[in-house]
Amino acid sequence: MDRFIIHGGRPLKGEIVIGGAKNAGLKLMVAGLLTSERLILSNIPRIADMATMRDLLCQHGIAIEDVTEDGSTCSIGGEITSTEAPYEIVSKMRASILVLGPLLARCGVARVSLPGGCAIGTRPVDLHLKGLETLGAKIHLENGYINASAPQGLHGDKIILPFASVGATENLLMAATLAKGRTSIINAAREPEIADLAECLTRMGAKISGIGSSTLVIDGVEALHGAEHRIMPDRIECGTYACAAGITGGDLLLKGGRADDLGAVVRTLEETGVEVFQEPDGLRVRRTGALRGVDIMTEPYPGFPTDMQAQFMAMLAVAEGASMITETIFENRFMHVPELNRMGARINVHGSSAIIRGVHALSGAPVMATDLRASFSLIIAGLAAHGETILSRVYHLDRGYEAVERKLSACGAMIERVRD
Ligand code: EPZ
Repeated sequence: MDRFIIHGGRPLKGEIVIGGAKNAGLKLMVAGLLTSERLILSNIPRIADMATMRDLLCQHGIAIEDVTEDGSTCSIGGEITSTEAPYEIVSKMRASILVLGPLLARCGVARVSLPGGCAIGTRPVDLHLKGLETLGAKIHLENGYINASAPQGLHGDKIILPFASVGATENLLMAATLAKGRTSIINAAREPEIADLAECLTRMGAKISGIGSSTLVIDGVEALHGAEHRIMPDRIECGTYACAAGITGGDLLLKGGRADDLGAVVRTLEETGVEVFQEPDGLRVRRTGALRGVDIMTEPYPGFPTDMQAQFMAMLAVAEGASMITETIFENRFMHVPELNRMGARINVHGSSAIIRGVHALSGAPVMATDLRASFSLIIAGLAAHGETILSRVYHLDRGYEAVERKLSACGAMIERVRD
């Protein structure tokens, strides 16, 4: 398993190109199931989860061809030859559950493994299943699989989500595009990645209104056609590197970064003393003064995103004063805390809240990544820590971040990947 070796204490200066958004790209690839024509996707991030999604779609019979040599643009399409999503793939990547709605809508049948829980929580899919049943699907769980059928096809209906679930919104949105009649999704999640998916579906001929709002109205059509779509920039990658600039007292231009996508993150960065400026070709982020403690509560968009919680905690570990972070989305998303404390941070977890007492400096140490965002939290800490930090289990990081060591080294960081 690869490791990173980081020597901290150098402010990051320079430019970082923000790649295509993982949490948009995964769903945009799944949208390729909704038509037999070709969907051309560009700005594809070269990360492990996108490769896993490619494998999943290929085993459904979908042909995926690289349009560009570097794989950043590909063409997706073809006939579905299997409506089963196997445990081996689904257990590796929870986003696989998103093939359920499209398979039902296109083929009237689907057998999808229940995604297990993951490091950050049990992550049930009850809202996905209840919503699809409202659209007419018959669903029963057996042997760890979701067995779903809609022999007469899906029909439109009104769905009220008790929680603005990102995945449930996306599964139901995609299914509704081919259902007979009108579907309303009330209390839909409003993350920018969902608007990106809806815009692509519209290009494919879907009839969707309310894009970006918490009420999506979809009028089903007979069939969707091919289209071309460029994946939006990854707002979480952008916010992550902003924290790296913040903790090192650096000055970065995050090319492609868009302040509007970041919701409450920009305001929170500014409250901590990090300056943020939207420039024509990206987001400039720099910190010249002291880092100040702030209180954060994670919420659905446009609130503070849970996917930025671990990265912010690392930065706040060396802020002046205390901070409190309350995690309201997932039940176990503080696994980076013990590792940060091994680097000298002073963080106490009480239930769903963590109290962070800022320290003057962190010290490098051997630490272990536990999940995707926690792994970058430890890199952020290592970039500012005195001495050497060795981060193991970097495969967690590779699931969702592209070329981290290259991007950071180009801005002055001392970081290298050691392949075991
Ligand atoms: C998406 O996960 C993202 N993943 C997550 O990013 C992100 O943290 C999350 O949305 C929240 O923004 C992808 O887009 C691939 P949810 P998802 O459905 O769709 C509960 C990352 O680091 N829930 O909004 O699974 C669930 O248990 C990843 O990139 C139900 O109870 O998120 C969780 O507590 C991590 N029943 C909460 O809702 C359901 O049927 C949020 O889940 C569905 C969800």
